[in-house]
Amino acid sequence: MYRTVIHPFSKTFLFSCMFAFSLSFIQKANAVFQSVNYDESKIPSYVLPEVLVTQKGHPVTTTEQWKQIRRAEIIALFEEHMFGKKPAMAVATNYEVILSETDDRPPIPGAIRRQIKMVFNASGKTNAADLLVYLPKDASDPVPLFLTLNFHGNHTVVNDPAVPITNSWVRNQAAKNITKNRSTKDARGMQQSRWPVAEIVKRGYGLATIYYGDIDPDYHDQFKNGIHAVLDTPNKNRPSNAWGSIAAWAWGLSRAMDYFETVPQIDSNRIAVFGHSRLGKTALWAGAQDARFAMVIANNSGCGGAALSRREIGETVARINQVFPHWFCKNFRAYGDRVNELPIDQHLLIAAIAPRPIYVASASDDRWADPRGEFLALKKASPAYALWGLNDLSETEMPSVNQSIGRQMGYHLREGKHDVTPYDWKCFMDFADLHFQIDNARNGRN
Ligand code: GCU
Repeated sequence: MYRTVIHPFSKTFLFSCMFAFSLSFIQKANAVFQSVNYDESKIPSYVLPEVLVTQKGHPVTTTEQWKQIRRAEIIALFEEHMFGKKPAMAVATNYEVILSETDDRPPIPGAIRRQIKMVFNASGKTNAADLLVYLPKDASDPVPLFLTLNFHGNHTVVNDPAVPITNSWVRNQAAKNITKNRSTKDARGMQQSRWPVAEIVKRGYGLATIYYGDIDPDYHDQFKNGIHAVLDTPNKNRPSNAWGSIAAWAWGLSRAMDYFETVPQIDSNRIAVFGHSRLGKTALWAGAQDARFAMVIANNSGCGGAALSRREIGETVARINQVFPHWFCKNFRAYGDRVNELPIDQHLLIAAIAPRPIYVASASDDRWADPRGEFLALKKASPAYALWGLNDLSETEMPSVNQSIGRQMGYHLREGKHDVTPYDWKCFMDFADLHFQIDNARNGRN
């Protein structure tokens, strides 16, 4: 039998090389972890890519040029350098009703509830994600709706024993008896403080939510599970611009939108896509690409979301790629120590949503997400809105805490930590009321 023999000297040499390599890797990693900057005075000087100049250097002066050229360029740049591109393979989606409103009464006053299994099929492989929907019971017309992903399973959004417990991978939580990455009945309703469903339906809106882990489990497995297992090429042939998890989650939101277009009780022209934190990044990417979303709301979305990457304050591109390599495409990793060379920054992600209403929300203690960077990105996106005469974010400085500003480009800095609170929801619904012509008198609010 053939066997490779390593001379003792070369063995020592080999081990020294490996040791030196690991040491430099650990040192680099440590440097990224230890050097979190929170000091505004230490922000490097930077120049943002222009909103209204094409890649070829031509000025963009009309809404037509924006739609035909600049917006398409921006989407392509985010695909290539950050979120990655979905494989071209066609997917057939079936929508199976697993809970209908005629089932036992949901414990949310004034609401009807249904749950749909979205089954994605391609080349004989399948993946499925459950879409939980609450609608106001007494609505006579099709209703506007907030669509959002959730972090722990649909059964954690409300304490409703009829909602099935997800079978997908979930993060372990000893307090809820979740130990083997499978959820339990103890987790029912554990996130309900973030989901004022009764209030939402009372104000005339629907709420629909999907567990993001149904679409793609949130850990790095080299893209072998979730929707990646159905659509991706095997890992070793994966292109460096192949989609990561954020793009997969955003894609799932658009599949829910396909469903809304078929439901008479839902007004698919008035769907707001909303997300918190990593799911706020996802909502921005979903809304930027899919113009059917009439409004986008990003809460505490931070690095890779609404915050400007070039500020390098709080979470940085280097750090996010190191800890969450599966969220983005491989190309994004190259920018860790050269963010200034990125052909994009996050103001362009917001600009790609124009002229649709956008709301960015920050929290005062959420320094990791860089609230000021979130506000500035919104502000810097305004030239795109100005093409439609919709530049109403005239404030040059951030508003004080708990003050909601803007009509087309909304913003608030909530007092407190990284979270979604009733105050945030109140601002989102007030903002949606402005655009979705909700009849407040009929909802008994005025
Ligand atoms: C981490 C991550 C953030 C992300 C957040 C979340 O803190 O660094 O980028 O927004 O998790 O999703 O909760």
